[in-house]
Amino acid sequence: MSYLLNGDRIIMGTDYYPEHWDSPLWEEDLDRMLDTGIEVVRVAEFAWSKFEPREGEYDFDFFDGFLALCERKGMRVIFCTPTATPPAWLTEQYPEVLNARMDGVLYRHGARRHYNYNSSVYQRFVSDIVTRLAEHYGPHPAVIGWQIDNEINCETNEFYSESDTAAFREFLKAKYGTVGELNRAWGTVFWNQTYTAWGEVHVPRTTLSGATNPHEVLDYKRFVSDSACRWAKLQSDILRRYIKPDDFITTNGIFGDLDNHRMAEESLDFMTYDSYPNMAYGLDPRFVGNRRLKDRQAGISLSEVRALQGRFGIMEQQSGANGWNTAMAAPTPRPGQITLWTMQSIAHGADYISYFRWRTATMGTEIYWHGILDYSGRDNRRLAEVRDIAGKLRAVSELAGSKYRAEVGILETYDNRWDAELDAWHRLVETTSREGIFSAAQYSHTPVDFVYLREGSTAKELAPYKLLFYPHAVIVNERHAALLRAYVEQGGTLVLGCRAGYKDETGQCVQTRLPGLLQELTGTDVTEYTLIAPEEGRIFADWGGTQIEAAVFTDELSPLGDARVLARYTNSYYRGVPALIEKRTGAGRTLYFGGAFTEETARVFLEKLGVFAPERETVELPECCELAVREKNGEKYYFLLNYSREEARCELKQELRNLYTGERLSGELVLPGYGTAVLKA
Ligand code: GAL
Repeated sequence: MSYLLNGDRIIMGTDYYPEHWDSPLWEEDLDRMLDTGIEVVRVAEFAWSKFEPREGEYDFDFFDGFLALCERKGMRVIFCTPTATPPAWLTEQYPEVLNARMDGVLYRHGARRHYNYNSSVYQRFVSDIVTRLAEHYGPHPAVIGWQIDNEINCETNEFYSESDTAAFREFLKAKYGTVGELNRAWGTVFWNQTYTAWGEVHVPRTTLSGATNPHEVLDYKRFVSDSACRWAKLQSDILRRYIKPDDFITTNGIFGDLDNHRMAEESLDFMTYDSYPNMAYGLDPRFVGNRRLKDRQAGISLSEVRALQGRFGIMEQQSGANGWNTAMAAPTPRPGQITLWTMQSIAHGADYISYFRWRTATMGTEIYWHGILDYSGRDNRRLAEVRDIAGKLRAVSELAGSKYRAEVGILETYDNRWDAELDAWHRLVETTSREGIFSAAQYSHTPVDFVYLREGSTAKELAPYKLLFYPHAVIVNERHAALLRAYVEQGGTLVLGCRAGYKDETGQCVQTRLPGLLQELTGTDVTEYTLIAPEEGRIFADWGGTQIEAAVFTDELSPLGDARVLARYTNSYYRGVPALIEKRTGAGRTLYFGGAFTEETARVFLEKLGVFAPERETVELPECCELAVREKNGEKYYFLLNYSREEARCELKQELRNLYTGERLSGELVLPGYGTAVLKA
């Protein structure tokens, strides 16, 4: 049984860098951690040179010393493979291991993640160092698990080295067999892109106007994902040979152009996630994201991690200000926010919380990315808060192993996520609906899951969801169409938005009537469609007297057979044209909506389709609070999370027990600013 996530209790850890501090500090640090309630440290993810200071010269003394101390103190260790930062001697001598910009310029030593996955030279060095570390530290009694690399595909998910081009060709040969098939799939007859030999095919390169063949880019994203998955597997296959049977393998995700499901299945016991909700309060607009959701956006990523295997840990949980000296500036968490974000992670399913980091770095790029302690290491407010959290985690420990409970799901596929990144029209509708539906769910206290349609997905997996949104099912294949039908037949409600079914798996547009493979299931014919021009203003439809906005795009719909029109557009030249069609199939129904979903629109769907605020008979909360429910053995745990600075008044409609204090509560419950509560019947 692995030490973490064994359903027994919620465990607290921190990320520690023994190589950043004089060794006499270690003992004091470990004692203070243990005293605070921290019982696990993650180490060594950037420490390659400590093990192999020069090519072929190995030295384990440094970490042997640290691990011996951990063993003596009873501190558990997650050991990392240090492959995110190759040593200078390696990249200088073997520049082919480096990743490159699209124009071919190599990314040089000095930052991190500057290697490419496909260099056979780097793979050889990595196999060697991982083998030696696994052999040496695998049996160590203090070690409880392993982290592969660090944040695979973070910093960049684009790889343009020569090794990548060579590997891309092999990937395409295996997929298409002949150049002729590749030409067909990529539609290379357009703009005279036809290839005559594999040697002419490259990873995307600098082109005029940046308009690389979209079918090629879709395959390239699949290739990047494949490379990253093989990268994790290369390492996990080695680790498995040496580590103790109960020890786990994880990595800290989740990043773009990566089929995280495949990586987790092939290589990991579970996924961990790095949660920095404070970015939303930062000065850098690139990281602020949705200005209304702010730190509640982290719930989107936490739900994405939960979609992988249901159980996960947090490998890096925010405990201080954000900032690289080059970018990303965000303030110190206000009193209560570390607790709030910790409970947010747990509410969404995490059973392990590791704070990034124990002491703030005094050198290098991350001097402003604060940990629990500041540079001096003196006791401070944040340490006191973490100590208080440790008490809370002990108090709620019985909920470990419980599952997040949602009756509403948002369907996704990797192909559609990637297509939305490369396709401007798809991206516009997708981002609107993803945020719209998530926000509606957050503010109406309707828990949601993300659910991925994959090769082996079954209707049984979809059955627990009363309602599934598939906001923009752009790329659809026969298998997924059949699966959606089976879900509806068995009684589910499927809600589709505009732009469904117009592309096949190559990313080419279908010539059948839209929504292509979904026409029968939706009972809908899309006769015309358009992006909404700014001068049109906002487009609405009338659904039984309720106005719903069709955002970004409008499909003009026409019902087929016994399908029913539920709403019609109320303005623009398509006024009176159907905007929402319902078709019954078996015990369920499919609704096709012609637009993208704003928050208000998604809220109307939740209300009208009977899945709105499923716990409203138990607890009522204001909008500033999130409600999450975890469930185990038929018992529900209610998380009430107040994201506002001001106090929030909730109403308990039945008597519930406050797990932090043991008191029984009913009626008004006032949460202080950033306050949290975990309640149970
Ligand atoms: C994470 C990363 C850490 C640290 C932290 C702060 O993305 O895994 O190593 O860099 O961010 O930047």
